[in-house]
Amino acid sequence: MLKECFVKIFEKEPTAIYFSPGRINLIGEHIDYNGGLVFPCPITIGTYAAVTKRNDDLVRCYSQNFPELGLIEFNINNLEYDKKDNWVNYVKGVTKFLREKYSQINTGFDVVVYGNIPNGSGLSSSASLELLFIQIFKSLFELPISKVEAALLGKKVENEYIGVNSGIMDQFAISLGKKDTAILLDCNTLEYNYIPVSMPNTKIVIMNTNKRRELADSKYNERRAECESALEKLKVKINADTLCEITVEELEQNKDLLTENEYKRTHHAITENIRTKASAEAFKNNDLVEFGKLLNGSHKSLKEDYEVTGVELDTLVEAAQQQEGVLGARMTGAGFGGCSLAIVENDKIDKFIEKVGKIYADKIGYEASFYIAKIGDGPTKLEKEEI
Ligand code: GLA
Repeated sequence: MLKECFVKIFEKEPTAIYFSPGRINLIGEHIDYNGGLVFPCPITIGTYAAVTKRNDDLVRCYSQNFPELGLIEFNINNLEYDKKDNWVNYVKGVTKFLREKYSQINTGFDVVVYGNIPNGSGLSSSASLELLFIQIFKSLFELPISKVEAALLGKKVENEYIGVNSGIMDQFAISLGKKDTAILLDCNTLEYNYIPVSMPNTKIVIMNTNKRRELADSKYNERRAECESALEKLKVKINADTLCEITVEELEQNKDLLTENEYKRTHHAITENIRTKASAEAFKNNDLVEFGKLLNGSHKSLKEDYEVTGVELDTLVEAAQQQEGVLGARMTGAGFGGCSLAIVENDKIDKFIEKVGKIYADKIGYEASFYIAKIGDGPTKLEKEEI
């Protein structure tokens, strides 16, 4: 238990407990950095922290997930990235950017963290951690940070402090999360709409390949670079600021300007944006059958055009798509391993897990894991009775 662990490590009681969720993306993959629409939602698994403010400049951090690392401490006046500080670099990054803006942050705190997002699963454990610490600072020092500002700050930590060139989707989905609601976000303008997710007869099943996304960061940056060079070339003929503004017709007319890979990446971005728009409509009309088809189309495009799936994700998703009671399935997140999701009729879920699990283990040689997704709230300070 988090509280007991805090008492054992710091020999005092925590004054507050905080929670920040992970996220799934229903559809709109690899287009947040191409000015497209995304449709994510926070989930009820995430990261917890027990905290007590200190009277000096120290922040002392312990993670129940990495007990072998012991207590890692830093001074709020020395916030340089240091590899040996491991996950605590996320805390240092948040501290650095917040201190630059808010002089009232003048003391540190003791904290114990526990996360139940499976490691390397692509459900955004890093954005969850960033938003957790922004929430902690916000409430310890009564900072006037809006949810959108918090999302942008989390992204800044990821991009400028940690060095991963990710888009805004994960931090936005977590920071603005609302129970039983997905967020349709225009990543170009940051305009967003909450869309209720009411699925009485089906559930979202998360399927974890249990393949860690080891290559993910370098491949992720490679895809971004391909998109950027495609846009530069297309701009010579087309008036557009992002790939998602371009139409399929415009792309076809200017295909000769691009390498084959640049063409395929652009084709994915444009069609995925169209599928995401259609998905939000399908959701509003309670048309989950149509939504399921769009999910299948998204996976195909991520496999063939964007090439970010791999044998593990393809095996899982293609096995899922063949089962009775399945409306659709696709990978979610950055890809190259991690998780996928399927919409499955309630009374077929047990059979679904058994059959897909068997096909996967037979082909890949190790087991997949399955969880039923519950859409929860964004970062919160927990009330005593929830602890
Ligand atoms: C990761 C990134 C996001 C987004 C997705 C792919 O989760 O952090 O910004 O690009 O991959 O859709």
